[in-house]
Amino acid sequence: MGRSRWVVGGAGAGAVGLAAWDLLQRKHTILRRYPVVGHLRYLLEDIRPELQQYFIERDWDGRPFDRDTRSVVYERAKGIHGERPFGTELDVNEVGYEYLVHSAAPADPPDEPARVVVGGPDCSRPYSMALLNVSAMSFGALSANAIRALNKGAALGGFAHDTGEGGLSPYHLEHGGDIVWEIGTGYFGARTKDGDFDPATFSDKASGDSVKCVSLKLSQGAKPGIGGVLPGAKVTKEIADIRQVPQGEKCVSPSSHRVFHTPVELIEFIGRMRELAGGKPAGFKLCVGSRVDVLAICKAMLEVGTTPDFIVVDGSEGGTGAAPLEFEDHVGMPLTHGLMTVHNALVGVGLRDRVRIGASGKVAAGNDIVKRVIQGADYTNSARAMMMAAGCIQAQRCHTDKCPSGVATQNPRRARALDVGDKSERVHRYQQATVDEAMRIMAAMGVTDPSRLTPHHLRLNVSATRNQSYAELYDWLEPGQLLAEPPRDWAHDWASASADHFGGRQS
Ligand SMILES: Cc1cc2nc3c(=O)[nH]c(=O)nc-3n(C[C@H](O)[C@H](O)[C@H](O)COP(=O)(O)O)c2cc1C
Repeated sequence: MGRSRWVVGGAGAGAVGLAAWDLLQRKHTILRRYPVVGHLRYLLEDIRPELQQYFIERDWDGRPFDRDTRSVVYERAKGIHGERPFGTELDVNEVGYEYLVHSAAPADPPDEPARVVVGGPDCSRPYSMALLNVSAMSFGALSANAIRALNKGAALGGFAHDTGEGGLSPYHLEHGGDIVWEIGTGYFGARTKDGDFDPATFSDKASGDSVKCVSLKLSQGAKPGIGGVLPGAKVTKEIADIRQVPQGEKCVSPSSHRVFHTPVELIEFIGRMRELAGGKPAGFKLCVGSRVDVLAICKAMLEVGTTPDFIVVDGSEGGTGAAPLEFEDHVGMPLTHGLMTVHNALVGVGLRDRVRIGASGKVAAGNDIVKRVIQGADYTNSARAMMMAAGCIQAQRCHTDKCPSGVATQNPRRARALDVGDKSERVHRYQQATVDEAMRIMAAMGVTDPSRLTPHHLRLNVSATRNQSYAELYDWLEPGQLLAEPPRDWAHDWASASADHFGGRQS
């Protein structure tokens, strides 16, 4: 009896000691949040991958990012090189499989990864953008500590951090990382009491040193064409102050903008944003709906005589904190087609050299960056892979406020477990290793500058017996071709597009 008391007492003291260690350490959010029992997760990871899969990742294959992608992100974030033994597990003969074309004479990767200058002729303060940046995610969707970790990671690595449409919060500015300030239909952080855009506040905040670019969100791939609602209970004093909305009242992002109704008004507004931001690059983000609307915007650029400095194309495969499943799965153009549509439309109207294109939608690894550049992007943004680098375990509870990793929650107890110092290093390492890998792939393809990549460099298995390059598979317009003589496949949509209204009939 006496002995068992000693054993129980010893075990209890051990558990208390372990709990104290778990709470004090800074590396593992899960252990800080779930002291002692959280070890089960790591134990399972160590014993058998099958057990781990059963207990933790039971239906992993159905989740947005597969296990391999997720572990590559984690390993890079932790500074582990992330190489794999044995070879691919993909079916490389499957129809739809794509591969990058390497060269018989590979090049050496350059010492420094490539960057791209964002800023057309009307921009007086161009910005040098990294190949991979943090995509728009608002404070509100993410915790203050997650925003801090992403921003500090961006500061350490010299890449950009998009605020998302929930306003420019103090957490975005605390660590001095480069900011792309996004406003959406709610104009949060730059709005009047009635919900209109407030130019004076916008100008004042956009003048901050950290703000490098300003962006207008038209739509996002996971929920194009609908706005959003933040329930009154979640509109804390802090969020109300940052968004400039009443505390405790339901906060609505309408589905459409008040500042423009036509393509011409959109382009004029982007010009106004650039002026109000003191000449910093201004652009917009959209998930493409119809090609006619893209062409209408291009016609408006010609008519107004100015261009956005950048357009970010988001694919329908993109993520969100919360959206109806129908919208996530069935509305909007996938990134491949959206990107090629915007790229070719700009080439076709002779304006491609003035506008940089960013791409987002499941960009997580180096090959994703290279593929998107081939399809027309100049740079890429990542939301969910950056969340994973900051500790997200893809529990998919963002909308419940019960995120176990402290990333997508406003619950202070949960968010506190996320250690900003450790996670910012991870974000930094993940971005750096992924861009380095993209540069290494390009070098294997014989290319040292992304601008030298061409559609010949990406091939797709189109049947069991044939594969073709993107150069063969798709129309690639010549500069100015839409103005001179639109190719047959584009002629109808080009004729339907009007700078004066959206919604022209698509072929
Ligand atoms: C939690 C979360 C919040 C987001 N909030 C915004 C937002 O405020 N504004 C926006 O333009 N996009 C938002 N997005 C979309 C992302 O910026 C990005 O376009 C999309 O998720 C595709 O990138 P991914 O596949 O790398 O996640 C959000 C995405 C997530 C996951």
